[in-house]
Amino acid sequence: MKIKQSPPYAPLLIESMRSLGYSFDTAIADLIDNSVSAQAKNINILLDPSDDPQLIIFDDGNGMDSASLEEALRFGSRGPLESRSEFDLGRFGLGLKSASLSQCRRLIVASKHDGKVCCFSWDLDEVEKTGDWSVLEYANDEISQLPSIDLFDSVNSGTYVLLQNFDRIAASSHDVKKTLDTLIETAEDHLSLVFHRIISEDRVSIAINGRPIEPKDPFLENHKSTQRLREQSISIDDNKITLQPYILPHRNKLSRDDLKKVGGSDDLRTNQGFYIYRCKRLIIWGTWFRLLSKEELNKLARVKVDIPNSLDEIWSIDVKKSTANLPDKIRKNLYGSIKESVFGSKKVIEYRGKLHRNEDISYIWQRLTERDGGVTYSINRDLPQIQLLTNSLNQTGQRVLEALLKNVEENFPSSSLYLDVADGEISTVIKDSQKILDEFEVQLSFAEQLGLSRDELIGMLVKTEPYASNEEIKSKHNNRQEQ
Ligand SMILES: Nc1ncnc2c1ncn2[C@@H]1O[C@H](COP(=O)(O)OP(=O)(O)OP(=O)(O)O)[C@@H](O)[C@H]1O
Ligand SMILES: [Mg+2]
Repeated sequence: MKIKQSPPYAPLLIESMRSLGYSFDTAIADLIDNSVSAQAKNINILLDPSDDPQLIIFDDGNGMDSASLEEALRFGSRGPLESRSEFDLGRFGLGLKSASLSQCRRLIVASKHDGKVCCFSWDLDEVEKTGDWSVLEYANDEISQLPSIDLFDSVNSGTYVLLQNFDRIAASSHDVKKTLDTLIETAEDHLSLVFHRIISEDRVSIAINGRPIEPKDPFLENHKSTQRLREQSISIDDNKITLQPYILPHRNKLSRDDLKKVGGSDDLRTNQGFYIYRCKRLIIWGTWFRLLSKEELNKLARVKVDIPNSLDEIWSIDVKKSTANLPDKIRKNLYGSIKESVFGSKKVIEYRGKLHRNEDISYIWQRLTERDGGVTYSINRDLPQIQLLTNSLNQTGQRVLEALLKNVEENFPSSSLYLDVADGEISTVIKDSQKILDEFEVQLSFAEQLGLSRDELIGMLVKTEPYASNEEIKSKHNNRQEQ
């Protein structure tokens, strides 16, 4: 056997690497990761409004000297097995190149360190021409021609990432600038969620064209009705994973702004589940990892899971930092934690729909538990109103009335009611008091026509829904009894 070299052909491998599956959002987030890892305090995403749009990501982090920048531009600049500092969001030594070039053909990176600015670039047209892994180094006069390069004037150190020639967007859009504008808008949503903890802790401010992004907390921790359940932790080889379950407030208690933060009312259900944070950066969310199904009744449950970057391997973190697999080692512990939160979520929803029954009142609807555990609702035939009507009818009339009551029972809109209650759509109907008094009178005069005692009927009706809760009727009746 003898060793033969089998180097990859640069233009083809880079072209394939462009298809790792980055979206515009995940690509920008990967570049922001680098700035956060470089301890930037301010990151600005700037869309240059020229006809051939270009995007700049500028940070005031540690920056790089020329040798470090040249190394940083190498594909696989750091090995995935290398251990990283506690706050380093990187893992593969690829993101800067793979994320940028997934969106555009030219990546230019300039960096300032110790007062000096250096600059290198990857240009895919150049790679095609040379057929080699060749980067371009910029001379000082070339650096000074770069758009908004004077951003460096106001910082001691920092990094400037310029993306040019958005070929993929151009291939699918007539107006690259307009499409980029839209993409930036949706990226804002993504970044405000993915980096919400890092922004909230004042570690960094991320701005788009100078406007800071507001953090979007998916647990509404500052809402007074959010329930924070018991925190739990799991240790794996001296690494700690913490789990913090939350129950969101019921939808009725959420303002429009709150709803936006938790992903919108329609998405409450789809966004339930685990929220996995790696070094406080959200990587995956809205999944129960098939430990549980996404039921309507679980929809207020969310579990914040914090994992350190030292466990990347067991979670199978991907290059884009947008997927992770649940390690078998912690599957059981996670299940224990969700049981508690999901149970709580159900309680919030069920509580809202619960009827507080009073033994002394005859209700219109009766709840019956069947032998198989199922529940049915039927109309209480003993209500004085129904008795009164039944007694006034002949046999055919009684059969028609019974058929009508049965129809109402059998066509009870249970599924739609269930969803509406869970969604908080059902509002308490404020009954018009005068209308109830009028109805009450109609019943009484009907009873009198039938030759029945008015007082006796009043005695029965005041213990019956809906009259039992009407204060005016109750006091009138009590006064009459006292007289
Ligand atoms: N904005 C930046 N400021 C300072 N250094 C940076 C910046 N961006 C990248 N670097 C340096 O370049 C290196 C390569 O970055 P790249 O994103 O390609 O890989 P990574 O961050 O190490 O890992 P990953 O592929 O997981 O993102 C980083 O490790 C870091 O040292
Ligand atoms: Mg990176």
